[in-house]
Amino acid sequence: MRLKGKTAIVTGGASGFGAGMVRKFIAEGARVMIADINGNAANALAAELGSAAVAQTVDVSDGTSVQAMADAALSAFGHLDILVNNAGVTHMPTPLEDVSEDDFDRVFRVNMKSVYLTARALVPHMKDRKQGVILNIASTAGVSPRPRLNWYNASKGWMITATRTMAVELAPDGIRVNALNPVAGETPLLKSFMGEDTPEMRAKFLSTIPLGRFSQPEDMGNAACFLCSDEAGMITGVAMEVDGGRCI
Ligand SMILES: NC(=O)c1ccc[n+]([C@@H]2O[C@H](COP(=O)([O-])OP(=O)(O)OC[C@H]3O[C@@H](n4cnc5c(N)ncnc54)[C@H](O)[C@@H]3O)[C@@H](O)[C@H]2O)c1
Repeated sequence: MRLKGKTAIVTGGASGFGAGMVRKFIAEGARVMIADINGNAANALAAELGSAAVAQTVDVSDGTSVQAMADAALSAFGHLDILVNNAGVTHMPTPLEDVSEDDFDRVFRVNMKSVYLTARALVPHMKDRKQGVILNIASTAGVSPRPRLNWYNASKGWMITATRTMAVELAPDGIRVNALNPVAGETPLLKSFMGEDTPEMRAKFLSTIPLGRFSQPEDMGNAACFLCSDEAGMITGVAMEVDGGRCI
């Protein structure tokens, strides 16, 4: 019960890595808001997990919606210990000059602007309490980028820099800020990164991962649980690879 008594919001918590973190946090004693634009999936997961889970429909790229999420979490839990900025999207693998402006704007709003919006809504609360943990789900794409995913890669590089500067600015207020850099993972998003889900494409991706497998939602749950627990009380500003050695 390493998160006993803690409360958390996981954005994009209804699917993939987010759901893996929600499940682990609840298993370790936390109460968790599953905050997702897919309200039906958030409700279904909350129903499965019982009274420790609360579902909230949110568009993390919209300031009004994010404020409503923050208000709902504080009303449900009374306080917030952990914020996980996990919701993210990509454009399809495309030459960088051919990505549509709509796709660029969507990646910008969901992957980057959301980190500002959730900070605006919840950092004042954490500052008042002189404690809090923020975890940003970035990517190995921000460290060791592949071609044809340029604007997605850049959004994750931005997230890593935001993590480091948030960490140094918020440290005097007792707030820790870290990131995870997952490698390609078995989630619904994987197909979008690969372009096509074929045995050949899977083999190509796997050949770059020394441990020889894709990451799993459970891997992100375990790493996130550690970084968000009091065991990581001296750790802030890191962007930790969960990548089977891909970035070596
Ligand atoms: N899967 C991978 O290979 C991989 C690798 C590295 C990093 N990541 C990152 O991990 C995070 C989670 O990805 P995943 O693979 O679990 O994807 P996923 O598609 O399985 O889950 C993403 C969730 O975010 C939600 N979402 C999308 N837009 C939203 C919005 N505007 N507001 C609220 N919720 C929204 C979706 O409904 C979905 O439930 C993303 O930030 C992604 O960039 C994924």
